[in-house]
Amino acid sequence: MNLLLQNPEQIITVNTNRIGYKRGSELNNIEVLTDHSILIENDTIIDFIPNHSTSKIKIDKIVYCKNNIVLPGIVECHTHLVFSGSRADEFRQKLNGATYEEIAKKGGGINSTVNSVRETSFGKLLKIASKRVQHFIEQGVTTLEIKSGYGLDFENEIKILKVIRQLDKNFPITILPTFLGAHSIPKEFTFNRNVYIDIILKELLPFIKKENLATFCDAFCESTAFTKDEVNLIFNKANDLGLRCKLHTDQFNSIGGIDIAIKNNALSIDHLEIIPNNEIPKLSELEMVCVLLPGVSYFLNHKYAPAKELIEKNAIIALATDFNPGSSNIKNISLIMSLAALKLGMSIEQIISAYTINSAKALGISKEVGSLEIGKKADLSIFETENYSDLIYQTGENLNVKTIKNGKLIYDKNGVTE
Ligand code: NIG
Ligand code: FE
Repeated sequence: MNLLLQNPEQIITVNTNRIGYKRGSELNNIEVLTDHSILIENDTIIDFIPNHSTSKIKIDKIVYCKNNIVLPGIVECHTHLVFSGSRADEFRQKLNGATYEEIAKKGGGINSTVNSVRETSFGKLLKIASKRVQHFIEQGVTTLEIKSGYGLDFENEIKILKVIRQLDKNFPITILPTFLGAHSIPKEFTFNRNVYIDIILKELLPFIKKENLATFCDAFCESTAFTKDEVNLIFNKANDLGLRCKLHTDQFNSIGGIDIAIKNNALSIDHLEIIPNNEIPKLSELEMVCVLLPGVSYFLNHKYAPAKELIEKNAIIALATDFNPGSSNIKNISLIMSLAALKLGMSIEQIISAYTINSAKALGISKEVGSLEIGKKADLSIFETENYSDLIYQTGENLNVKTIKNGKLIYDKNGVTE
């Protein structure tokens, strides 16, 4: 079975010549093809054909792309979308001057979502999360990472990971599960945190590995959450079990997380809003991806990560929503892209690279997806515009009209899917 994406105004390939990421000046080089169509055979991109010669090929199926542009499928590499309840009351407190950390210290924040998730059944969580996954697919997302971290005990962390596994079965995109048991110290262990860390090390991680419930292990290295030594213990164990690590760090305080992430060969470090200047060179030339989350800075009215400095120092930069109920109640990728432009100072080309090939790199899958290269998987997003600049200019607008996963049309705004 072959499929032709015929005659788009632009094909943004984000070509890396098989390298699988972009850094430094390469971020601006997204390679725009015009007057070409894309030929897909089954689930693989097999050619970019000049429009004048497409008639020579026998085509089984055509998707007409006139007046549209084609990009790699969007890779959303950092979300916490399996949760229930609302933190609108805390948001009001924040508008009245309370800080995220103050709310967390008073037992609100992450722990208030934990209370809600513990009371919500598997079926209800699945239903709530399903709507959110669909919302991402409708924005062109073909790969989605989802973290646990709102259960914080054996039963409920496993419940969330099983919801994520079920989402992966129910939806046609790739959904990658991350275990974030070290998100916050659960309130019942406030005074004996080592007991909870032991549960992570001795019960949760081995069980998750045995049942294949997570691909990655994440943690929150922060003064209100886990110390660098605690994170190190957890990452050592995760690495022993073969789970790649990711780390939330330098969001409010820099307490040594960067060194621990490097030491444990983490796939990504995420946040970095307050990374001290003298730490930036450590990230230079590494394969570890810096995932920047400008939605968090916006939602919390907090500092923005030093994207320009990181790019100058040749770090690999990705972008994501960090969709969660407390620090970024934002699922809107267009808004994140606009914030990256206006608040992180990134160019439109850098943003596209960061939301495709580099976010795939943050999930360890950039050899298969994240750019349109011959031989890679046919994951694509099609936008209703003639020029990619609109992706940022049309702030907050979802211009995606079609999503293609593994060569199959899985979302069509106008209603017809396979
Ligand atoms: O990525 N920083 C820690 N975790 C989340 C926030 C979770 C929450 O507030 O519920 C984040 O920002
Ligand atoms: Fe997060």
